[in-house]
Amino acid sequence: MDPAYLQRFLSDSARTQTRNEIRELLKLISRADIISLAGGLPSPDAFPIDELKRIIPDTLERYGTSALQYGATEGDVGLRQELLKLMAAQEGGRFREIGIDNILITSASQQALDLCSRVFISTHDAVVCGLPSYLGALGAFTACGAKLSGVLLDDSGMRTDLLEQRLVDLRRRGVRPKMLYVVPDFQNPAGVSLSLERRRELLQIAHEFDLLVIEDSPYRDLRYVGRNPPSLFDLDRDGRVISMFTFSKILFPGLRLGWVVADEEVISRLAVAKQPVDLCTSGLSQVVAREYLKTGGLGSQIARIRKLYSVKREVMLRALDDAMKPEWGVRWTRPEGGLFLWMVLPSWMKSRELFARALEAKIAFVNGDSFHCDGTGDNTLRLNFSFPEPDELRTAAARLAGVIGDMVAEHGESRAAEAPSSEPSPAVLVSGDHSLEQLGWNLALHEVQE
Ligand SMILES: Cc1ncc(COP(=O)(O)O)c(C=O)c1O
Repeated sequence: MDPAYLQRFLSDSARTQTRNEIRELLKLISRADIISLAGGLPSPDAFPIDELKRIIPDTLERYGTSALQYGATEGDVGLRQELLKLMAAQEGGRFREIGIDNILITSASQQALDLCSRVFISTHDAVVCGLPSYLGALGAFTACGAKLSGVLLDDSGMRTDLLEQRLVDLRRRGVRPKMLYVVPDFQNPAGVSLSLERRRELLQIAHEFDLLVIEDSPYRDLRYVGRNPPSLFDLDRDGRVISMFTFSKILFPGLRLGWVVADEEVISRLAVAKQPVDLCTSGLSQVVAREYLKTGGLGSQIARIRKLYSVKREVMLRALDDAMKPEWGVRWTRPEGGLFLWMVLPSWMKSRELFARALEAKIAFVNGDSFHCDGTGDNTLRLNFSFPEPDELRTAAARLAGVIGDMVAEHGESRAAEAPSSEPSPAVLVSGDHSLEQLGWNLALHEVQE
C-alpha cells in the first residue's frame, strides 16, 4: 500500500511513532564480519540450556494441560509465589511484607513499561527521565503522548539536585509531571548506579512533588564489584514505587517473562490494562520459569553469569585502557555491573561520524544521542561487553582506538591549517578520574520536549 495513502488511516499515536533506531541498527550490523558492541544481548553462553532440556519436557509431561492453556491476566499463582520467596530471600526488607496481589506477571519488562504508560500517561503529561535513558522506555512513554524532560546523570546516577531544580522549574511553568523513570542499577545505557544517598533523596523529592516512580531494574542481579544498595521499592514508604524485573538477562530473553512489584491498587490497574493487550502472558513460559525456580538453580545460574560477564567487563576495560591515549580526551564509565559502558568523546568529535568510520573498520556501537530525549549527547556512545567473545572485545577496542586516533590526528591537522601557530593543542586533554560531570556531559537543563 502507498505509505501516503495509509497515512490517512493512522492513529495520532502511530503518526508520531518512529522506528526504534537501535533495533533497526541491529538488523544492519548483523553481518558476520562486524564485531558488534551495539546490542544489549546476553551472551548465549549465559543460557542454562542443559537445565532447560530437562525442565521443558518434564514440564510438558506433568503440567502440559495448564501450561498450554489460557491463564489469569495477573499470572500463574505458583510462579508468583516462587517470586515472592525469591525476592524475600534476595532482597529482604519490604519484599518480605508483600503478597501475591503485589505482583503482576508481564510479557517481560517492555510490556510493564507499556502498561504503566497506558495506565498513567495521558497526551501531554510530562515524564521525567535520565539523560541518557533506555530508549525502549522513552518509546513506550511517547507512544502514549508523554512529553519527556531529561535530567543529567553522573557517576552516581541521576543528579538529584538537578531533578529538584527541574521540578521546581516545571512547577513554576504550571507543568506537574506524574512520573519519574529510573534504572537505578547499572543503567542502560550509561552503566552507572544510583547511590544509596541519591536513592533516599530521589524518594524524598518524589514525595514532595508527588510523583510515581518507575524503578526498571533488569540488571540488578548482574553485579560484579561491590554490593547492591536497597532497591527504591524497599526504601519507599509511600507506596509510590513501581518496580519492574525480568528474566531476560538472568535466564534468557526468548522467555519474554517479567514481573512488576507495586501497591495492590497499581497492580490491579495494570492488570486491567493488560487484558486488551494480550489477555495473559504465555502460560508455557510461566510454567517453565516456575519449575525452573522450584529447582533452586537460579542462584548458581546468576553466579555463573556474573563470573562470565565480570571477565568480559575486565577484558573490555583493560583493552580500552591499553588502546586509548589519555591525550585524546576520551573517557568511559567503569560500571560495577550490567552489560554496558558509556563513552564520552571530546566535544568536537561526533559519534555519528565515528560510527560511519567504525563500520568501515568492522565494528559497531550505538550512538549516544539516541538515548537523549532532548537530542543532545552527540559525542557519546554505548558499548556492550556481554555479547562479544573476549578476543573480539580486545580487537574491537583496538579498532575503535585506531579510528578515534585517526580522527584526533585529522582534527589536529585541520586546526593547525586553520589556526595561527599560537593556538593551543587541538587534542582535548582531560585528566583526573572518569567523572562524567567533569567531562561536561550534557550540563544544560532542557525544556520539556515537544
Ligand atoms: C532498562 C531496560 N528496561 C527494559 C528492558 C526490556 O527488557 P525485557 O522486555 O526483555 O524484559 C531492557 C532491555 O534491554 C532494558 O535495558
